[in-house]
Amino acid sequence: MTLNELAAHVAAEFQKIYARPPRWIVAAPGRVNLIGEHTDYNDGFVLPMAIERYTVIAAGRPAKDTKQIQLRSTCEDQPVTIDPVQPLKPFPKGAWANYPAGVIAGFLARGLNPGRFDALIHSTVPLGGGLSSSAALEVAVATLLEVITGRKLDPVEKALLCQKAEHDYAGMPCGIMDQFISVMGRENHLLLLDCRSRKPELVPMSDPSVTVLVINSNVKHELTGSEYPTRRKQCETAAKILGVPSLRDATADALESVRGKMDEVVFRRACHVISEIERTVHAAEGVRASNWPAVGQLMYASHRSMRDDYEISCREIDAVVEIAESIGIPGGVYGCRMTGGGFGGCAVALAKSDAVAAISQKIAADYKKKTGIEATIFVSRPAAGATVIKA
Ligand code: GLA
Repeated sequence: MTLNELAAHVAAEFQKIYARPPRWIVAAPGRVNLIGEHTDYNDGFVLPMAIERYTVIAAGRPAKDTKQIQLRSTCEDQPVTIDPVQPLKPFPKGAWANYPAGVIAGFLARGLNPGRFDALIHSTVPLGGGLSSSAALEVAVATLLEVITGRKLDPVEKALLCQKAEHDYAGMPCGIMDQFISVMGRENHLLLLDCRSRKPELVPMSDPSVTVLVINSNVKHELTGSEYPTRRKQCETAAKILGVPSLRDATADALESVRGKMDEVVFRRACHVISEIERTVHAAEGVRASNWPAVGQLMYASHRSMRDDYEISCREIDAVVEIAESIGIPGGVYGCRMTGGGFGGCAVALAKSDAVAAISQKIAADYKKKTGIEATIFVSRPAAGATVIKA
């Protein structure tokens, strides 16, 4: 389904629920990160692309007299209502409405009040699959509020507002990658983002002979919530012992020289981050040169580092990567790794376009044999960031 078809579908659903057509329609994409995992909150580099999976919101002013914002999601039975007045209180922990609420709070804090509206939210980004369904939701809401208030934010400010919503309302101390790519994605480009300077650099990726494959393991181990902040703290501890502001400023040699002063686990966490930042920069060079075997090797190395040093993989994702590696370049796979926060979710593979169908079949069959689970596999070209479909 194209984005316009998807938007038409959501508009028709809005009409069914609210008995009138929507006045506004916006969309924001999910993302897949090619390489550069857990580097964003260490001031390092990431290399994500937006995917052709979107959160779409159709909205309009209420027909009836009400002071509230009413949000409905096609995944939920009950609507939620929000009073657009400060201070806006978070919903209970784990409630999906915290993402929109946090974004609305960010607009209110800037004196931008959207007033009351009705909205229907629909997403084709798999929820909780490590493809940034939450950032897509935040950025879609922010895009809607820009249209309603008539104030377009600077893209960096918009991404940071959404990140703050996730910190303060959803309670997840995420980095800046997901919101940046959902705002700034460009068709046929990866985004090499320097998370220290926040300078985005577009890296063209339009070679039709390679395809990005997303393999959803369809498992989610409930560790993400507690493990993510722990990893962040371990990185800060390592940076402190190294005497640098962040691990971006450290080298493998410097780390080795303080090894004795460091807990063994903290040492391995820092090993991952320092080596991953370097791999990400090299991978961007590889993409620019269309050197796919080199990019693929960096992806495998990244996976090993996440599995052994950062310890954020799981046996199901390891199985996917092993299967991909066994297919290898002769079978059309250049590289594969886990993508996103960890403990399940998706793997990303770089493959020869003409072998994608055979590769997908083989991965699905072998994964089922090894784990008993059905994987969901899809391909995506690098997509554009958030867009207004109807203003
Ligand atoms: C999650 C966070 C990002 C980033 C990744 C790991 O997706 O939201 O900020 O830290 O994990 O690379």
